[in-house]
Amino acid sequence: MIVRSQIVGCGSYLPSRLVTNAELAAQVDTSDEWIVERSGIRQRHIAAEGETTSDLATNAALRALEAAGISGSAVDLLIVATATPDNTFPATATKVQSRIGMKHGAAFDIQAVCSGFVYALSVADNFIKTGQVQTALVIGAETFSRILDWSDRATCVLFGDGAGAVVLRANRGKGSSADRGILSTHLHSDGTHYDLLYVDGGPSSTQTVGHVHMEGREVFRHAVINLASVVGEALAANDLKASDIDWVVPHQANRRIIEGTAKKLGFPLDKMVMTVERHANTSAASIPLALTEAVGDGRIKPGQLVLLEAMGGGFTWGSALVRM
Ligand code: ACO
Repeated sequence: MIVRSQIVGCGSYLPSRLVTNAELAAQVDTSDEWIVERSGIRQRHIAAEGETTSDLATNAALRALEAAGISGSAVDLLIVATATPDNTFPATATKVQSRIGMKHGAAFDIQAVCSGFVYALSVADNFIKTGQVQTALVIGAETFSRILDWSDRATCVLFGDGAGAVVLRANRGKGSSADRGILSTHLHSDGTHYDLLYVDGGPSSTQTVGHVHMEGREVFRHAVINLASVVGEALAANDLKASDIDWVVPHQANRRIIEGTAKKLGFPLDKMVMTVERHANTSAASIPLALTEAVGDGRIKPGQLVLLEAMGGGFTWGSALVRM
């Protein structure tokens, strides 16, 4: 018998304000046609003035706890994956901790940009597997709207705000891929590509928050290669084939990246959960947002095999294979 981290509840939250491509086209030199053709994005949710990452994270967390049927006081470990924290310190996770009524254990943030949720899931899984914690809350939450240059059409059309969360619980398994829970996680980074996707500010460099900069074409090229590789790694580690996977929940950066990865791996497109059209790229929040949607509408069912994959600035990339 071994310990597995089982997903026992999912929740998400999107700010109420919707911004369409047409609205952006009135502000910068772009068009709905260009944005849809190049990215698949039609709209994004944007946080209201004064609405912060911890607000979105707390709402998603409370919904995940409700779905799991447990209270915040039962959580031993809380991790928020975010590149857009409320403040430089303390960790956004500690704010969420106090708001959900979690009084013991530890709360901290993880920074791996768009791969943040997979990184956080991997850390929480390892805490559970070593027996240090029983129950973990893993949240991806972002207000990317605060670090966009709204006059730069190459980046401002691609991102949105939101949050998603999962509750993990220690569960016994037999050590096979039939076990429910996280079967394996696979993380990578390569700091030599730092300047292909970065924010030009920070406390130690400019003492400002900065704006997102991206070499879109280069990011695209690396994304398809790295994602295909880390998905292959997850399948090989569990002795599984692409046809064994019921659903892929990819990071929602761009429809064409998702299509390119599916093609490279031989996954039919209807196995890929896609929200990018309505949410745009919400960085660390995109996977738990998409997962919550597909669990909520009954597409993803208990016992099914789900593959999560993401790639982001750093570069960072990773995958997680989960039996729901
Ligand atoms: N509207 C209209 N035209 C635009 C816009 C816009 N919003 N943005 C750029 N253009 C123009 C460019 O200026 C360029 O014009 P030029 O040919 O006159 O120089 C032309 O469109 C083509 O630009 P490219 O950047 O070459 O367009 P491409 O087909 O590569 O699409 C895109 C751009 C959508 C950014 C694509 O490269 C992409 O998706 N890359 C991956 C980005 C991504 O997913 N990043 C996130 C992953 S990691 C993370 O999530 C943080």
